[in-house]
Amino acid sequence: MARKNQTLGEFIIENQEAFPYSSGELSRLINSIRLAAKVVNHEVNKAGLVDITGAVGETNIQGEEQQKLDVYANEKFIQTLTNREIVCGIASEENDDFITIQGQNKDHQNKYVLLMDPLDGSSNIDVNVSVGTIFSVYRRVTPIGTPVTKEDFLQPGNKQVAAGYVVYGTSTMLVYTTGHGVNGFTLNPAIGTYYLSHPNMQFSETGRIYSINEGNYNHFPQGVKDYIKYCQAEEEDRPYTSRYIGSLVSDIHRNMIKGGIYIYPKSSKSSNGKLRLLYECNPMAFIAEQAGGKASDGFQRIMDIKPKELHQRVPFFCGSKKMVEKAEEFMKNAPE
Ligand code: AHG
Ligand code: MN
Ligand code: MN
Repeated sequence: MARKNQTLGEFIIENQEAFPYSSGELSRLINSIRLAAKVVNHEVNKAGLVDITGAVGETNIQGEEQQKLDVYANEKFIQTLTNREIVCGIASEENDDFITIQGQNKDHQNKYVLLMDPLDGSSNIDVNVSVGTIFSVYRRVTPIGTPVTKEDFLQPGNKQVAAGYVVYGTSTMLVYTTGHGVNGFTLNPAIGTYYLSHPNMQFSETGRIYSINEGNYNHFPQGVKDYIKYCQAEEEDRPYTSRYIGSLVSDIHRNMIKGGIYIYPKSSKSSNGKLRLLYECNPMAFIAEQAGGKASDGFQRIMDIKPKELHQRVPFFCGSKKMVEKAEEFMKNAPE
């Protein structure tokens, strides 16, 4: 049973038995993610200081070039998970191909693969606005003991065993699901401990916020244009409020707490939208569904899409169930 204010460490131990095939591996994986997130959080918090303490392009004390934060976050997550030999493979938005992790003493014995967007919304760093990390976990489908293959990563979202995000906001939160609801933990930076602050997070059935980059309006499909007009109409509880941070993690996080819909549609400029199915949409869809919400590409369930490539993009409609269903209705009536 989730108890408010219990630590993430206590929560993981108490809930371990609830996992199918529990061997502690998934718990250790979540543990590594919380550790990597703390390291990244520390660096993100210093973002504005970089220009003060040293010009970009300078080398640090270890003689390493100062790096862009998304490269830094990518390396930290990969290092943390590789050193602990917890997963057998990692695919990242920042890497062209997946990484195989052999393990020092136990050749390819781990059963999970991890997919991630190490730093989401990175353009917001320069303006001191929240960014995040998104992760998604699957059981490998190829035999244990052999190197992972692409097949292990190209699984539909409905096969995820865990997914979550970290939001580096006014406070830092880790929000995740293992298929038993969604729980949110807030980091106390003074002692480096996460506490359960948001047990059993839920999308309200409907909401009053719509989040979309309306600057692209002229390029949107007719169904999306019609839905936006619906959101703006003077009716009952409308017009809705428009809120768009431009950092998926923060936009979804806010909408889950307040009720709303997030849309990144296809457009005449990008035929599949912008967001990546494996690193962004599937994990967010798993969380949304576990929180009573819904995620679709406008026509079908995100998590039922069979991925064809690692960096595949997909249109994304995610949030309060009734709002996503309404948007789908508009898409159906004007599919092009
Ligand atoms: P990333 O920083 O990982 O490339 O992701 C940015 C994404 C997502 O976070 C956000 O919702 C979207 O880009 C915003 O895109 P637009 O600027 O086109 O609205
Ligand atoms: Mn992203
Ligand atoms: Mn990113």
